[in-house]
Amino acid sequence: VFSARSRFVREPNVLARALAAVRAMGREILDLTASNPTDAGLSYDSREILEAMTEPAALRYSPSPFGLESARNAVHEELLGDGLDVSVDDIVLTASTSEAYGFAFALLCDPGDAVLVPEPSYPLLAHLGQLASVELRPYRLAYDGAWHVDLGSLRTALTPRSRALVVVSPNNPTGSFLKLEELGEIAKLGLPIVSDEVFSRYPLIDDPTRARSALLVPDVLVIALGGLSKLAALPQHKLAWMLLGGPARDVDEARSRLELVADTYLDVSAPVQHALPRLFRATRATADAIRARTRQNLQKLQQALRGSAANVLRVEGGWYAVVRFPDLASEEEWVVALLEQAGVLVQPGWFFDFAEEPYAVLSLLTLESTFAEGVARLAALVASRVA
Ligand SMILES: Cc1ncc(COP(=O)(O)O)c(C=O)c1O
Repeated sequence: VFSARSRFVREPNVLARALAAVRAMGREILDLTASNPTDAGLSYDSREILEAMTEPAALRYSPSPFGLESARNAVHEELLGDGLDVSVDDIVLTASTSEAYGFAFALLCDPGDAVLVPEPSYPLLAHLGQLASVELRPYRLAYDGAWHVDLGSLRTALTPRSRALVVVSPNNPTGSFLKLEELGEIAKLGLPIVSDEVFSRYPLIDDPTRARSALLVPDVLVIALGGLSKLAALPQHKLAWMLLGGPARDVDEARSRLELVADTYLDVSAPVQHALPRLFRATRATADAIRARTRQNLQKLQQALRGSAANVLRVEGGWYAVVRFPDLASEEEWVVALLEQAGVLVQPGWFFDFAEEPYAVLSLLTLESTFAEGVARLAALVASRVA
């Protein structure tokens, strides 16, 4: 009765089972995986955010495939602050970045075509590919003190059915930005680039070699993705964007095809579109608080693991940090021990398809006090195992 593409693994994994058991015992858990900003003890300008959604203009339905011009103007203005001058005509609003991926896959791929995706990366990509009946072919991000694109694996991943290449910058969870040089090499493949830049406003270090946006590339079609979910820490408002760049002929064709794709759904609500300029302004302080928190937590983590047999990998931006455990036990054993013995929840590297183990991914968005206590317990567990 059902399609193969709607068939997903539904059995709870080892960590989920261990977590359920620990919770059933009523034990308190320090959750270092939190990635929902509205649940992270951050302060929001609640009044302004609520009032922004009551603009009278939102009482009128004026469907427009790419979103209201006023809302696209607001995105244009906002991105000028990042040094991106994207024409309002090249901004397509969607309800989420996930939806934008779906639109990009529909635009570029037929069922059975392939898209190159970084590994390790964001687990939702696998689901988005499966739902679009697209084969995701991983290319490696390799670590040697810093993460970089393994260009050899990129070439190996290419097949005659490759239709696009995804970059995530900074990447979730490695926190690595795509470098200008890497962007140049990737563009040489000639494939359209889908560039997920949702975390671009959250750098953790200054790096002049990083590519500010894949839109800097002039010679291939680029679809850059961003949205309120991370930039304004408002995932519940459901508004994101696709920014088109590259050769004019490709951009024109992409625009006219996307018009029908977007017109088929018309998913972005009027209230959020009318609220957009106010939402951008109202959430600046929250985004600042996230930058301060992620930096502070990263420092805390680095301090806690100084001299430890576990180490923190280089992080350049985003909301996550990766820890490598010593090779004394498997990744599963480490994360389950951390949960059962220390009451600390982290994500194992395999959630993100790390090529090796044992790794853990920690959310730097976690409340500072919880994070500090969690990493102290992590360091203590590692020390007790090494001793
Ligand atoms: C790299 C990356 N892209 C996209 C998203 C999803 O964003 P949205 O809420 O706009 O679908 C996430 C969410 O965690 C993410 O980590």
